[in-house]
Amino acid sequence: MSLRDDARGVAREVTAHHEVTVISHIDADGIASEAILSQALARAGVPHKSVFVRQLEPLTMRQVPADDSLKVFCDLGAGQQNLLAERGLEPHEVVIIDHHVSQPCGKDYLQANSLSSGFSKMSAAGVAYLVACAIDSANTDLSRLAVVGNVGDMMAREDCGLVGPAREIAVEGAEAGWIEIVPRNLNFYGISTRPLHVCLAYNDDPFIPGISNNTAGALRFLQRLGIELQTPAKRWRVWEEFSQEERRLVASSLAQQLIACREPTDRLFSKSYLFPGEPERTPLRNAQEFATLLNACGRWTRPRVGSAICRGDRGEAFREAEHMLSNHRAVIRELLEYILDTGVRELSHIQYIHVGDRFPDTIVGIGAGMALSRLNMDKPILVMVVQPEDTSLTKVSMRTTERAVSRGIDLQQALMVASSEIGGAGGGHRIAAGASIPRESEVQFVERVNQLIGEQFARTGQGNC
Ligand code: C5P
Repeated sequence: MSLRDDARGVAREVTAHHEVTVISHIDADGIASEAILSQALARAGVPHKSVFVRQLEPLTMRQVPADDSLKVFCDLGAGQQNLLAERGLEPHEVVIIDHHVSQPCGKDYLQANSLSSGFSKMSAAGVAYLVACAIDSANTDLSRLAVVGNVGDMMAREDCGLVGPAREIAVEGAEAGWIEIVPRNLNFYGISTRPLHVCLAYNDDPFIPGISNNTAGALRFLQRLGIELQTPAKRWRVWEEFSQEERRLVASSLAQQLIACREPTDRLFSKSYLFPGEPERTPLRNAQEFATLLNACGRWTRPRVGSAICRGDRGEAFREAEHMLSNHRAVIRELLEYILDTGVRELSHIQYIHVGDRFPDTIVGIGAGMALSRLNMDKPILVMVVQPEDTSLTKVSMRTTERAVSRGIDLQQALMVASSEIGGAGGGHRIAAGASIPRESEVQFVERVNQLIGEQFARTGQGNC
């Protein structure tokens, strides 16, 4: 059965029920998925409600209502089918829309899972969109949210654009006029909202010597090109506002700068996904910044605000989200500085740090990812933080690079194995994974993860140094 067949099966099931509960994850992909499904269900006249959870764990399973609604697990569930079974949920009460590694438990839950169908670069929002279109082919406006979810889950990063079915969805949205795909745009975050010199300086993939992590250097670089960086009213212009000619000049000068430093230029450009119907100079304008806005809502435990924005609220909800976004960025910056100032401890195959209870557990993964690009990128980074609702537990986030993944590293496997051995639970992806473990087993856990990662490197016959 193809993924589209599975999506059709899920669509039939959800529309056949008198009530549906969507249980989704609090990150950008989870929020976008929930918004896609709840809009498709509302349009089809199916009564529904939504529940957002930070993870599907024994503690959060209590948030799943004990009623006779169909439970639609979205962006989670595939890896926690044992919890669904322990809760007594039968196959006729559950469907799963996911892209995480599936861990069967003996009960045959109906599932549409892009990863199980062989598509590792399509997130849950993409699958939710296929379900929405199987409910009604007129739901193509929801393609924007599918693209936001996919981009938010880094599905476009490695290939500098979406691929496979995620690409097909973007093209479908573009053909219907909802999305503008720019085939060769600057591969930098913030092209819709940040002053250009800040946008250039705040990006380090690719790392451009003299510009990356150097706002003053980036400003001098642009001033030397002789282009007008501010409007007549002295407001900094954002990349999207520059003319084609100005953009060409900046892009070719950046390429020259990379070539002069003997750095590859292949990551300087990528496809970008813009939403022409949204107001200029707002994070709603492009998929990447839209996804960060949703992440900010989720990570500050207000996923419903993000969901309201996905459903078109541009008033109260948007103002609240913008406020969370600036707070989100400030705290991530603080976390990044804390990791870099304090320093990580290096083991033979990983590097790690415990940030105590200084930062929310929902953002340490993002901080870990950002810190990695300033540290030894050959060793995956593991960050631990006290889990606020239960201080006897430790939340773990791990991040690595595409390069390490291509050499056999699988953080999901390492965290799942190491956490289950000490009574915790973990999962995620090869490149980004998380776990929850008993606090007293931290030392033993870190050593075990180091050993497992070492074994993964050894299996491919390549060291990580
Ligand atoms: O929390 P963090 O951003 O580090 O999560 C990275 C990935 O690991 C996500 O895909 C998340 O769903 C997954 N994860 C998990 N189990 C956990 C924590 C995170 O499957 N206990």
